[in-house]
Amino acid sequence: MATLIRNGRIVTAVDDYVADLLIDGGRICRIGLDLPVGGDVTVLDASGLLVLPGGVDVHTHLDSATPTAQTIDTFGSGTVAAAFGGTTTVVDYCTPLRGQSLLQGLEDWHRRRESACVDVGAHMIVLDADAATLQDMKTLVRREGVSSFKFFLAYPGALMVDDGALLEAMRVAGAHGALCCVHAENGHAIQVLVRDALARGDTAPKFHALTRPAILEGEAARRAIDLAELAGAPLYVVHLSTAQALGAVSDARRRGQRVHGETCPQYLLLNAEEYERPGFEAAKFVMSPPLREPEQPPQLWRGLQRGDIEVVATDHCAFCFDEQPNGMRFSKQLGIGSFNRIPNGAPGLEERLSLLHDAAVVQHGMSLNRFVDVCATAPAKLFGLFPFKGTIAVGSDADLVLFDPGERWTVRAAEHHSRSDYSLFEGRELTGKVKKVFLRGQCIVDGARWLGREGGGRFLPRTESTTPA
Ligand code: URP
Ligand code: ZN
Ligand code: ZN
Repeated sequence: MATLIRNGRIVTAVDDYVADLLIDGGRICRIGLDLPVGGDVTVLDASGLLVLPGGVDVHTHLDSATPTAQTIDTFGSGTVAAAFGGTTTVVDYCTPLRGQSLLQGLEDWHRRRESACVDVGAHMIVLDADAATLQDMKTLVRREGVSSFKFFLAYPGALMVDDGALLEAMRVAGAHGALCCVHAENGHAIQVLVRDALARGDTAPKFHALTRPAILEGEAARRAIDLAELAGAPLYVVHLSTAQALGAVSDARRRGQRVHGETCPQYLLLNAEEYERPGFEAAKFVMSPPLREPEQPPQLWRGLQRGDIEVVATDHCAFCFDEQPNGMRFSKQLGIGSFNRIPNGAPGLEERLSLLHDAAVVQHGMSLNRFVDVCATAPAKLFGLFPFKGTIAVGSDADLVLFDPGERWTVRAAEHHSRSDYSLFEGRELTGKVKKVFLRGQCIVDGARWLGREGGGRFLPRTESTTPA
């Protein structure tokens, strides 16, 4: 069944105009003024609303075993949250188990992602550089549509790779046109600071942040950038939280190296003052990197303005605060009495577009075009999904968001769709709300009504990045 969206204000990364948009067969098939309609077309009036490309969130950890706990959102629940927030494409991090091959890890990930309600792609986390791993990396790019890899410079003994393995794997990625993503924090140095803090009896959640200083993010980012240069590989530094790491990215970009930066709403909008909350409440904000000192977020805003930060993703890695009703293995309570056992991560998939619209467009004067770029177009290009995803053009997937830029609402975990029992942004008033969402032409969200289907999302095999240096 075809749908005509009439009179919407269509905003892409480069255009902003009022027109009609005809969707058929899951794709956008015409854009124009006063498009004629046959009798079998559903007509929808979008006057006063923005028509945006569906959001593309390239940093999630759904149904994932982390070093301390299991994330609470399945692909089903996480992607319903994504859809209500206007995100129709998710690229999720596949974490193979230690001892499992990358291909086996992907097979397991495919089983878990079958419940996805929006379209999903996979990045592969690489834990070593054994011959079999390097071979699997090639197979993943050539055969499986997995064209990005992630390396952790943090979490020693769990996810961290050493510099030799990083260099070897980056060489393979670079030679096969894949993008290398890196979590930049110096894991061994953090280990020393954590040991010292625990020995002093400093066990409260705030010591998570105090044992992960900004300088160790800067150091790791510079090291990853240098190794990527040596390997001839493009690099994407995930969840930048400090001026130190951003500086490393900016310097490399000035030199002409292909390095890209991502940050997340929590690093732009929150700071380390959250760790002063009483009791164990601060554990809600335990994530890596941690929230930073108040002077850091303005630096990230400047990086976003300059274009050195190209993407705002969520790092949705959701746990519950309370143990009930889901059980301890999903809960922050695992870390009572010892900050280093608090599961690292927080929910965020659902609020990204509205938070960014409110903070960036309404409060910081970012153009709507740039807002669309950082939330949809740039990530789609960087991760080999463009032009099917991330834009509004004839032939593109009809993944669309009807967005009311003037509606005010308040973030409440009680109303969100993640299975997590809290929000980092509880009580925050926002301007700009998702009204309707289309996934490949199907209306899956209509106000508060869910019209999508568990398993309605497709796997997205991805190609090389289309973003030049
Ligand atoms: O604390 C976080 N960010 N948890 C998710 C895993 C990661 O480091 O991205
Ligand atoms: Zn990370
Ligand atoms: Zn992450």
